[in-house]
Amino acid sequence: MPVISAPHAFNEGQLYVDLQPILGRSLYLKCEGFNFAGSIKLKAAIEMVETAEREGLLSQDSILIESSSGNLGVALSMIAASKGYRFLCVTDSRCNLSTRLLMEALGSEVQVISDLDSNGGFLGARIDYVRALCASDERYVWLSQYTNPGNWQAHYRRTAPEIARQFPRLDVLFVGAGTTGTLMGCARYFREWQRPVRIVAVDTVGSVAFGGEPGRRMIPGLGMSMRPPLLDESFVDEVVRVEEADTIRACHRLARRGFLFGGSTGTVVSGAMEWLAGHEKDDLTAVAIAPDLGERYLDTIYQRTWLEDLYGDQVLGVDQDLDSEEVAAGSPGAERVSRTPDRHREP
Ligand SMILES: Cc1ncc(COP(=O)(O)O)c(C=O)c1O
Repeated sequence: MPVISAPHAFNEGQLYVDLQPILGRSLYLKCEGFNFAGSIKLKAAIEMVETAEREGLLSQDSILIESSSGNLGVALSMIAASKGYRFLCVTDSRCNLSTRLLMEALGSEVQVISDLDSNGGFLGARIDYVRALCASDERYVWLSQYTNPGNWQAHYRRTAPEIARQFPRLDVLFVGAGTTGTLMGCARYFREWQRPVRIVAVDTVGSVAFGGEPGRRMIPGLGMSMRPPLLDESFVDEVVRVEEADTIRACHRLARRGFLFGGSTGTVVSGAMEWLAGHEKDDLTAVAIAPDLGERYLDTIYQRTWLEDLYGDQVLGVDQDLDSEEVAAGSPGAERVSRTPDRHREP
C-alpha cells in the first residue's frame, strides 16, 4: 500500500495499454497520466525544481516562474504548493480554462499574455514577459523548460529505464515531440542500451520542430513554432508527422473503447500505427508514450462543435460520428463562433 505525504511522491510508472485488441497492431502504450499533476510533465518539473534546490538557486523567498500552456504549469503549481514556493505561470489566451483554474486552485498566479509576437504566435511574447520580470526582481527563478537539461534528464533517469525494465526486447519507441525533453531523454538512454532501439519522433503537421512549413495547430502539447533548443537530431532515427484530424480520429477511437486520452496521445498513436503499417512483417516489440489523459480536453477534442468548427463535420467519418444523444442536443442552425485559422499551440 503506497502511503505518501507529498503529491509528487506518487507516479504510476508501470502501466501499459495493449492496443492490439483495439487497433489490430501490437503496440504497448505507456500511460504517464496517473499522478497528481495528471501528466508526464511531473517528471520534468520535479527534476528541474530539485536540481535548482541542489544548486542553491531557491530560497523560501523565491518565486518560480515558467512559460507554459498547460501541463508543466499544473505540475509546477503542485510542487510549488507542496514545497512552499510561490509560482507564476506565464501562459496565453489559448490556455484551457480548466488548466488555468487548476493552477489557481493550487495557489499559483497565472499571467495571461494576449498580444501576438512578431511570429504570429505567443511563445516569443511569453518568454519576453518572463525575461522582463526576472530582470526586474531577483526573487524570480526561471526554470526554462525549453533549455533546461533537467527536462530531458528526467526521462533519461526515469521514463526510459521504466520502459527498458518492462520490455527488455524493445525494438521501436514512439515519442511525441514538444520541447523534446521526453524524446531526448529516452533517445539518449536507449543509444547507450544493450541492444539497438529505433527512436521514432512523432510531430504535428504545422510544427517546425524538425523543419517544414509552419501551419495552424490547435492541439496543445506537441509541436513547436521554433526549433526546440534541446533537440539533437543525431539521436532520432525517424520523424513521423501527423495531421490533427488523424490525431482526433485516434483519440475518439480509443475513447470508444473506454480509454480517454489527451490529444498528444492521439498524435503518437496515429503516427505509430502509420509507421507500423509500413513494417508489418517485422514482428516488432513497439512502445509508445501517452503523456496525459483526456479530461482536460472535454471542451476541445471531445466536443462536437469545437471539432466541426475547426476540422469540418466529417472529421470523425460517418461510422465514427459522435453519439446520437449529443448530436440531437446540438442545434444544427445555431451560429458557430469562427476561430482564427492561424493559431499555434506551444508546450
Ligand atoms: C500533453 C503533452 N504531450 C506531450 C508533450 C511533449 O513533451 P515534451 O515537452 O517532453 O516534448 C507535452 C509537453 O508539455 C504535453 O503537455
